[in-house]
Amino acid sequence: MHYSDFGLINTKKLLTRALQGGYAVPAFNFYNMETLVAILHAVQITDSPAILAVSESALDYMTPGILMGMISGAQYKKNQVALHLDHGHSFESCKHAIDLGFSSVMFDGSNLSLKKNIEISRKVVDYAHKFNVSVETELGILAGIEDENTFADSHSYTNPDIVADFVKQTCTDSLAVAIGTSHGIYKRKNEKEKLRFDILKQIANNIPKTPLVLHGASNIPKKFVTKINRFGGDINLACGISPSQLRHAIPLHITKINVDSDSRLAFTASIRETFSKQPNTINPREYLKTATDTMTKNCIDEIMNIMGSNNKI
Ligand code: G3H
Ligand code: 13P
Ligand code: ZN
Repeated sequence: MHYSDFGLINTKKLLTRALQGGYAVPAFNFYNMETLVAILHAVQITDSPAILAVSESALDYMTPGILMGMISGAQYKKNQVALHLDHGHSFESCKHAIDLGFSSVMFDGSNLSLKKNIEISRKVVDYAHKFNVSVETELGILAGIEDENTFADSHSYTNPDIVADFVKQTCTDSLAVAIGTSHGIYKRKNEKEKLRFDILKQIANNIPKTPLVLHGASNIPKKFVTKINRFGGDINLACGISPSQLRHAIPLHITKINVDSDSRLAFTASIRETFSKQPNTINPREYLKTATDTMTKNCIDEIMNIMGSNNKI
């Protein structure tokens, strides 16, 4: 099926409007019915556009049939949301998502040689554009998910001198950049560490028409970390990107901000609290509903206080 049959919108349209309007479209990851409903409820309340992001492993977890069944049955306004493959690692993976009915894909060739990255990015773009699907590519490397209480120190920042040629050769619709963010909950030693806005500014100057994407952009709200630890969890030294730095990136053409870890924290904190306060609970519908509502509230906060995408439908 084609994404328009599901009432989904081409992601490039959302990003072009955001670039012109000076706000960012949130890309929230989801991996089950509850996290999908949480995001859709938030965008309905705020009248915000949104990108529903599905990683390769989340697609495996949900299975293609159940995922597309949920999308087909979900409630959202026509042309309000996009369905996006997050971090596709091969042409085949991107093609699979396009054939399922995704409205955009990310080809993540950031770990490849520049030549290979350009070659496969262009191949994905050529296939995607036949179906009016848009493509995000990446230059520069974010440090990997840090799960062991270690900091993500080794970034390879995007080189502003090569972005124009990369965009020209790949015909990419948007570009993910590495300016000091990283995936997961251990992003930095303290909140004062600054993103490389100097690099971002040069990139924006060199490719002024290309929407830019910030991965690893969770702000890691302390209230969730504290709650997780208070109710039996053990998360130390978690630290994200402050909302003020994220807001600062938006006028420098960051028009898609990716958030996954904050939703994981919100959901987990809520379930831990319920289990601790109601040790006799055995009904998943009860604690999952509370967790879904907690995630919705956090998505609303981020839409209103970081993205500025409320009332932009
Ligand atoms: O960017 C990475 C996302 O947080 C997805 O992570 O592969 O565990 O779903 P995942
Ligand atoms: P976080 O781990 O900061 O939420 O990043 C998510 C992301 O970049 C998804 O592509
Ligand atoms: Zn990412």
